[in-house]
Amino acid sequence: MKGVILSGGHGTRLRPLTHTGPKQLIPIANKPVIYYAIEDLRDAGITDIGIILGTNMPNKIKDALGDGSKFGVKITYIMQGEPKGLAHAAATAKDFVDGDSFVMYLGDNILKSGIEEFVKGFDESKFASRLLLQEVPDPRQFGVAELNDNGEIINLVEKPEHPKSNLALVGIYLFKNEIFDAIDKIKPSWRNELEITDAIQKLIDEGYDVDSFVVEGWWKDTGKPEDVLDANQLILESIQTDIKGTIEDDVKIKGRVIIGEDTIIKSGSVIKGPAIIGKNCEIKGYVGPYTSIGDNTKLIESEIDSSIIIGNSIIQSDKRITESLLGQNSKIISDKTTYPKGRSFVIGENSIINL
Ligand code: DAU
Repeated sequence: MKGVILSGGHGTRLRPLTHTGPKQLIPIANKPVIYYAIEDLRDAGITDIGIILGTNMPNKIKDALGDGSKFGVKITYIMQGEPKGLAHAAATAKDFVDGDSFVMYLGDNILKSGIEEFVKGFDESKFASRLLLQEVPDPRQFGVAELNDNGEIINLVEKPEHPKSNLALVGIYLFKNEIFDAIDKIKPSWRNELEITDAIQKLIDEGYDVDSFVVEGWWKDTGKPEDVLDANQLILESIQTDIKGTIEDDVKIKGRVIIGEDTIIKSGSVIKGPAIIGKNCEIKGYVGPYTSIGDNTKLIESEIDSSIIIGNSIIQSDKRITESLLGQNSKIISDKTTYPKGRSFVIGENSIINL
């Protein structure tokens, strides 16, 4: 089997972070979200992986992933260009897939359990597609599946206003070659995208067998800032302590914490895990649970929890920072030592500041 990871799209719901890079590179527990997809495919024995690229700084994806050797996989880049829909993206991978069955993995999805279970036996099975589903409280933001009494999928709708079930489509799909004919037969949806849900519905209507698994462990689509923070929390839940940096005297470390090389935790600080702090950081203050701090960051006499600092940042705040997502090179500086006093901002589109 092959793997196809979608990493195009504009990432509009994650602006301004996506003005400077694709959303698939936003780090969760200090690791770009797309790495989790590559590792899942590799761990399921799939090492021939096509990466679909869009127009939002595709070279940054290439720089981050290279030829795949650092993951133990072989990567082929496939240019989709403008995001004309998931089915359109899948169709651009037809030559790469070259008759094999494949896993299509949305590059902004993270799944706790990995995909090994799900992939097992698909190649030899009678199914033209296999889907993963999960019960969600508000299915309207997802593709939604309706099942009959035998648990077979009878209907799939993309982001319905009135969902017929609470079973959302997880962004990981298994396909055989028939999907390409089905994609050829569908028309763009009301939002002018070729929807993969419509292509799978076409398979079902034409009498192909499509099976599904309901996923028990957590799954996250990291399309919005709150989802990114949730995913960060879920990943940090399962880290193991690994301390490489320097811990000065009189530092309290509680719970599971990862601290990178050349990082200094200054005297008097309290680090309460689960939390991860990258390389070459200087930390003086409080780092609370569910916090990921990227490389080269300084925390000066400040408190932070439940947040992601992507990296190369300086934080000096007299109030605790909580549930925040800070892009590269961010600075939050207290006005205690500077004049004139007052709040001063350079902020991008869609920024949120709670004072
Ligand atoms: O996360 C699960 C959901 O993903 C499913 O429940 C929906 O049925 C499915 O349509 C999809 O919905 P989203 O609205 O989350 O899709 P999004 O536009 O965010 O695209 C998902 C990924 O695919 C993202 O990494 C960007 C990439 N993409 C998207 C489009 C539209 C492409 O590479 N090319 C594209 O043309």
